[in-house]
Amino acid sequence: MATVELKHIVKIYPNTEGSRKKKHLKGEPEKKSNLKVTEEGVLAVDDFNLSIKDQEFIVLVGPSGCGKSTTLRMVAGLEEISKGELYIDGKLVNHVAARDRDIAMVFQSYALYPHMTVRENMEYPLKIHKMPREEIDRRVNDAAEILGITRYLDRKPKALSGGQRQRVAIGRAIVRNPKVLLMDEPLSNLDAKLRNQMRAEIIKLRQKIKTTFIYVTHDQTEAMTLGDRIVIMKDGVIQQIGTPQDVYDHPVNLFVAGFIGVPQMNFYDGELIRKADGTYAVKVGDAVIDLSEEKNAHLKAHDVQGQDVTVGVRPEHITLDHSEGKMVKGTIDVAELMGASEHLHINAMGKDGIIIVPTLNLKASNFQIGDPIEFTFPGSMVHVFDKRTGLNLEDGPASN
Ligand SMILES: Nc1ncnc2c1ncn2[C@@H]1O[C@H](COP(=O)(O)OP(=O)(O)OP(=O)(O)O)[C@@H](O)[C@H]1O
Ligand SMILES: [Mg+2]
Repeated sequence: MATVELKHIVKIYPNTEGSRKKKHLKGEPEKKSNLKVTEEGVLAVDDFNLSIKDQEFIVLVGPSGCGKSTTLRMVAGLEEISKGELYIDGKLVNHVAARDRDIAMVFQSYALYPHMTVRENMEYPLKIHKMPREEIDRRVNDAAEILGITRYLDRKPKALSGGQRQRVAIGRAIVRNPKVLLMDEPLSNLDAKLRNQMRAEIIKLRQKIKTTFIYVTHDQTEAMTLGDRIVIMKDGVIQQIGTPQDVYDHPVNLFVAGFIGVPQMNFYDGELIRKADGTYAVKVGDAVIDLSEEKNAHLKAHDVQGQDVTVGVRPEHITLDHSEGKMVKGTIDVAELMGASEHLHINAMGKDGIIIVPTLNLKASNFQIGDPIEFTFPGSMVHVFDKRTGLNLEDGPASN
């Protein structure tokens, strides 16, 4: 139970072996990272600001190498903070040792002791703290109950499935009643089905224990389903902080727009038109679509001018219902029947994209590769981004 505050947190990994890029072997895929490299070293996290409320569930999400683990490890005290201040419950802890921060961490690799039983693994952190025997038993039994692993308490980790092992690792973390529970990609070693199950378990766990959570993942689905708020990072820099609904409805830039939501948002070159009466429309191909009142209000508030833009529309917001003058033309590349819906991979205006059509809709059947298709979208579900900066124009034109 604690608040956590990160103020202007910076992490610079000192340059020891020259540019890290040089270390890449031929044929090894290079990380898609654009981290700034300064005289001092690699800027892995840059000016990270976040105020986490007591018992809030925060998810840090972003592509590989964006600085998620580094941020988490700085909170844990496993990594030195280069600049900035970290407060736990209002107390500056930059120089407080990891073991004195009252924080527990769960790793991707379960990091269980193989020679110990489940019970011994879970007791371990309490024994180190010389807790009385009865208290240890009570806490371990409680945690095992919460996680549904009571009947495995006498087994060794190797006799458990991946999901069960991860439960034990979580158990070992929560027996200490930590103020803050940190989790670094705890589910990424599990297969898809188990991952879904464990995700639900974590949601339940969160209701049973009164702890502040910081959870790292590169999986946007985990982020969207677990987080009270999610922090989307790229190249060491926070792109957006908000509730899952906020970031889905209103991505602040192209990166967030493309990262949040599956399948990915479709992007087209288009034009933002400011009409004589001051209202806005977007033109994509031959289609001209009036924007909703809400979108109009945002654009008007910032006096956004008509201009070439990148138009974003989510696959689930596209429809095939005919509406005169509002249809974008394309062709079908692949049609995938997913059960309740069909995913149409299309090419329109030279760009690949996806449309989701409900299977109940009769039009969804009989799509053939190469078929022409026309689609449209409502003016309330379209996102307009500055072509140059990639920023959402509803937040106003870029200042520079
Ligand atoms: N000890 C180190 N020395 C130098 N650079 C490092 C070190 N550890 C991490 N980095 C760099 O800092 C950046 C951020 O790394 P970090 O592990 O925080 O990323 P991540 O978001 O957790 O990625 P992933 O999803 O792959 O786990 C990366 O570019 C990485 O190469
Ligand atoms: Mg990581």
